[in-house]
Amino acid sequence: MTNTIDRRTLLRMAGASAGTAVLAGAALAAPAPAGAAGGAFRHGVASGDPLPDGILLWTRLTPTDAAQPGSGVGPEAVVTWQVAADPNFSTVTAQGTLTTGPARDHTVKVAVTGLAPATTWWYRFGYAGAWSATGRTMTAPPANADIDRLRLGVVSCANWEAGYFSAYRRLADRGDLNLVVHLGDYLYEYGTGEFDAGGTVVRPVLPAHEALTLADYRIRHALYKTDPDLQALHASVPWVITWDDHEVANDQWSDGAGNHTPGTEGDYADRVAAARKAYAEWMPVRTGADGAIYRRLRFGKLVELSMLDLRSYRSQQASGTAVDDPARTITGDAQMSWLKSGLAASTARWKLVGNPVMISRLDVGTLPAWLLGPLAKLLGIPENGAALSVDQWDGYNADRNELVNHLLANSTRDVVFLTGDIHTSWANEVTTRATGGSAPIAAEFVVPSVTSDNVNDFLGLPEGNALSGLGGSLLRAANKHVRWTDLDGHGYGVLEVTQQRCRMDWYHLVDRTRPGSASRWAAGWSVSAGSSKLSKETAPQA
Ligand SMILES: [Fe+2]
Repeated sequence: MTNTIDRRTLLRMAGASAGTAVLAGAALAAPAPAGAAGGAFRHGVASGDPLPDGILLWTRLTPTDAAQPGSGVGPEAVVTWQVAADPNFSTVTAQGTLTTGPARDHTVKVAVTGLAPATTWWYRFGYAGAWSATGRTMTAPPANADIDRLRLGVVSCANWEAGYFSAYRRLADRGDLNLVVHLGDYLYEYGTGEFDAGGTVVRPVLPAHEALTLADYRIRHALYKTDPDLQALHASVPWVITWDDHEVANDQWSDGAGNHTPGTEGDYADRVAAARKAYAEWMPVRTGADGAIYRRLRFGKLVELSMLDLRSYRSQQASGTAVDDPARTITGDAQMSWLKSGLAASTARWKLVGNPVMISRLDVGTLPAWLLGPLAKLLGIPENGAALSVDQWDGYNADRNELVNHLLANSTRDVVFLTGDIHTSWANEVTTRATGGSAPIAAEFVVPSVTSDNVNDFLGLPEGNALSGLGGSLLRAANKHVRWTDLDGHGYGVLEVTQQRCRMDWYHLVDRTRPGSASRWAAGWSVSAGSSKLSKETAPQA
């Protein structure tokens, strides 16, 4: 069994998907319910967490104009959903209804089951005679299927005020992706002007103030879901998502956050509960009974993807020798046990880990002050210099050593960490100080931000400037396991996985502040099965 689809078929499907989206949008204008200017489904459609027999579908209903996101008002309403094997819905494979209302901010999430594996599906939602845009998605192959190839878009860190989501648009236009993996900072909690694009607010957020309450987080999620580029990527391919800190607040840990002040911003437990409720409502993600989102998905014998939650269970960030304290954790005990046992027992060729913050160690203590300043903003380190970036795995050495030593002890190979958070692009070979002399244990590919500021933005210089280039060289000189880095580009990664190798290509936007920006290939690095050493590619993946 194979889920490889020839390129012509993919392009045809992509074209059909885009075409139906446009047609459905036009159709909404006529039969839209009274009082719902803009249509009943103005926040797009999405799918996520594909299984061999099922898929999670998402939308948000606006049954009346008063039923705005976060308003808490509006009627209970019954939404119809349909899944078909063709974009015209000539044969509907599965359908049903779901009642939504203000208690869930009129969001709709349907866990469809009973579908055939490794199949492309089209889906839509209906209400009061109007259909939503049509989405395209895919079920996963059977767990024991031989898969030739899997291609993933990889993204993180989309700051609304810093620019347009052209990275999502470029990925949507490819038409060759099986999946999008989002590593967190899908949105940011800040008020307007508090986290801008090098001093410029390209487009203001809603609400204008920092998100604190359930209504605030719902409004912020809803704003993001109005973005046409984000809508296009959600509608074209299933996403597998985890969160980082900004879905709640900057430098979040299990019982607080750097950007949370209990005295003026209320009880942290109330805030995190509000943020998590809005997230569960608005994101196409499966959550466990206790709300946990760390989870594992399998794609035949080729890939097992473990998505991590590195915010809900972690100890508070600390510095100095505390980073070595074995009592401190970034994963929590249960997630660490689940991760270790899952990696060791996996029968998949490639063990991908959706890892919100960088696991490769980063020594920055010898870098010059002009570089430490911008890096400090990205990494959360003291600007006077430090050896560690304590918000990443560097701040939780015991957990990193435990995981890496477990991989070594079990001879677990072909582990690739897919990482976000630091807005910049990296190809790393994973080692620790404890294993420093040995061959790398795993590979790590870090994708740049969709829009959020990085080094040249903090320096106030154009992308590709000499200082950023020098900074990258200094970082690589101090960190031999970092094979490549680019500190300026915004964009996305495309990961291609085959039996023989796992390859990441980085694409950077020409201009994040311009809608519809083109992207250019920045680099490609690959790791061969059985080895965790990286090889540089000299041309873009075809
Ligand atoms: Fe971020």
